[in-house]
Amino acid sequence: MKRKIIVLDTTLRDGEQVPGAKLNLGEKLEIARQLKRLNVDIIEAGFSASSPGDFQAVQEISKELGDGPVITALARAVKTDIDAVYESIKNASRPLIHIVLGTSSIHVKDKLRKSEDAVLQMGIDAVKYAKSLLPDVQYSTEDASRSDFEYLWKTIEAVVKAGATMINVPDTVGYAVPEEFGELIGKINYRLKNLDDNVILSVHCHNDMGLATPNTLAAVKNGAGKVECTMNGIGERAGNAALEEIVMGLKVRPGYYMADTNINTREIKRTSELVSSVMGLDVQVNKAITGDNAFAHSSGIHQDGLLKARKAYEIIRPEDVGVESMDMVLTARSGKHAFKNALDKLGFRDFQEPEFTKLFDSFLEFADKRKEVYNSDLYYILKKHFDKSTPGETKPEHNIELYEIKSIQVISNDIVPTACVELLRSGNVLKSIAIGDGPIDALYTAIGKATGLDAKLKEYKVKSVSAGKEALGRATVKLEYNGKIYASRAVDVDIIKSSAIAYINAINELVIDEFNTCNPAV
Ligand code: KIV
Ligand code: ZN
Repeated sequence: MKRKIIVLDTTLRDGEQVPGAKLNLGEKLEIARQLKRLNVDIIEAGFSASSPGDFQAVQEISKELGDGPVITALARAVKTDIDAVYESIKNASRPLIHIVLGTSSIHVKDKLRKSEDAVLQMGIDAVKYAKSLLPDVQYSTEDASRSDFEYLWKTIEAVVKAGATMINVPDTVGYAVPEEFGELIGKINYRLKNLDDNVILSVHCHNDMGLATPNTLAAVKNGAGKVECTMNGIGERAGNAALEEIVMGLKVRPGYYMADTNINTREIKRTSELVSSVMGLDVQVNKAITGDNAFAHSSGIHQDGLLKARKAYEIIRPEDVGVESMDMVLTARSGKHAFKNALDKLGFRDFQEPEFTKLFDSFLEFADKRKEVYNSDLYYILKKHFDKSTPGETKPEHNIELYEIKSIQVISNDIVPTACVELLRSGNVLKSIAIGDGPIDALYTAIGKATGLDAKLKEYKVKSVSAGKEALGRATVKLEYNGKIYASRAVDVDIIKSSAIAYINAINELVIDEFNTCNPAV
């Protein structure tokens, strides 16, 4: 029978300890609401004693989330911290006090400068005090993975007897390795079951050696009933175990782990994007599950394989984690099969040889320059091809008038950032000039004026996708028009240019969609 693993999300506490990721109250509330939609079991909302702002955020989250997840906050093993946690979470429908105290000799002797017995007593007193306030208390044995096992167990036994209902075993500095950590959890689990079967065994892993997820999964395999993690794996130094990786690891290998979670996996991508944008922390493009490229296939061999059998190169269905669809990015490495499939989807199905090869060559030439090719680019390639084609070759059955950039000039300064654009559409030159709050605002206002389309910019992101002087900047644009979202991306060494192309591509997606809506036969 599958075990249900409890998921504690600590994005708002351990995650927020990332330098520069400090959040204000509104931002914390927004993330907490999304964590509720994600259906995490426990939200660690902050470190109440650390600042009045943290205290207030924990308090507001506890009030607002009502009958949602369990709410906890961190306390050191001192009365004032425990009081602060209690006062900030007491309005939650299911509050939990979380106490942390070190068990390794580095923590006990070098950091706390006390004897093992004195630290043990501090832990017992802290749990007894917390228990006098609330029934649910978690005790974290900080730096457990570098602790002497017998002292670690002596601590666990004592705090359980004092009333702790959850024991959390942290690999605080990411020192553990999966086999060893799994064995440690197995040993603790065995003794804990004999001591008190109702106490939940939890793990909390850091990623200093890139092993936070493997260590967490090894712990689950060896009996841990609860995992602590953050969205996108953000956290101190190299971060924490990533929620999405653990959850999907369990989901993809149910036969191996015999465990699953309550997480609504379809909310994963949305949560990742929210955390990334609010905290200003980009997700690595190839990050498992939540990276932009996690479901993008660009090599010809893989695209061909996927088109024949999705399972050949895909172990997770993108839609299961809230990613719209399999992202088949056409690049210069895409083969004829993927190119033909993309044309098919646009309704162009009747190409014969040698015309198809000619078209494929134009695509490769375009892809070499642009790196990534989107639907609107395909129309552009088709249009150019038909303009040059000889009688007898397939003619376009439509006349979608797409926009093309003829020239752009953007002036960036702190007085009046200005942009001049010239677009081409059906042979006409559309010129416009605009000022804005910054160069991109000026650029997008100018393009908007030139097209005359009142599309609303919902999202704009620019990220570096390679390193060095020749670094490519990938711009992502989402526009809203008539209640629909049109997204596009573009890459170029010049980020102003990639921003302009991404915007025009999104506009062209909109034009194509409007055309197809009015001409359903195409
Ligand atoms: O890394 C750690 O040890 C912690 C504890 C508070 C659980 O964050
Ligand atoms: Zn931690």
